[in-house]
Amino acid sequence: MDRRRFVESGAVLLAGIITGCGARPTTLVTPVGGLVRLPLRDHPELERVGGAIRILPDGGSTPLYVVRLASGEVVTLSPVCKHLGCIVDLKGQEFVCPCHGSRYARDGAVRRGPTEHPLDRFATSVSPDGIIEIDVRRPV
Ligand code: FES
Repeated sequence: MDRRRFVESGAVLLAGIITGCGARPTTLVTPVGGLVRLPLRDHPELERVGGAIRILPDGGSTPLYVVRLASGEVVTLSPVCKHLGCIVDLKGQEFVCPCHGSRYARDGAVRRGPTEHPLDRFATSVSPDGIIEIDVRRPV
């Protein structure tokens, strides 16, 4: 990545790819002004419906999921279960909580309790030139 692209993306690959608690790798990113910018060309998984990646913003402790939905929308979700705070994992078409079995759809909606609330979302948009922009300062 040349310097210009580095600055444009705002996403810095700090240590390459690390492996988190699941088999899905996590990309370390550095927000600029609270925004993470991910060029789609660097994350081809997100160009297809059902694709997902995990990102860990610099200074954070819990990776976020970035998911391409069937509608074409790209969403960014917190993996913190809204029941009692365990970390959910993306398994197939849904997020599953290992603690008490709550299940969430890929858009974060509740599919099965005991949770009663959807996963937190972070504002996410995709520009016409293929840049995914995520506001990681707080959920919306
Ligand atoms: Fe997730 Fe209880 S903490 S179901």
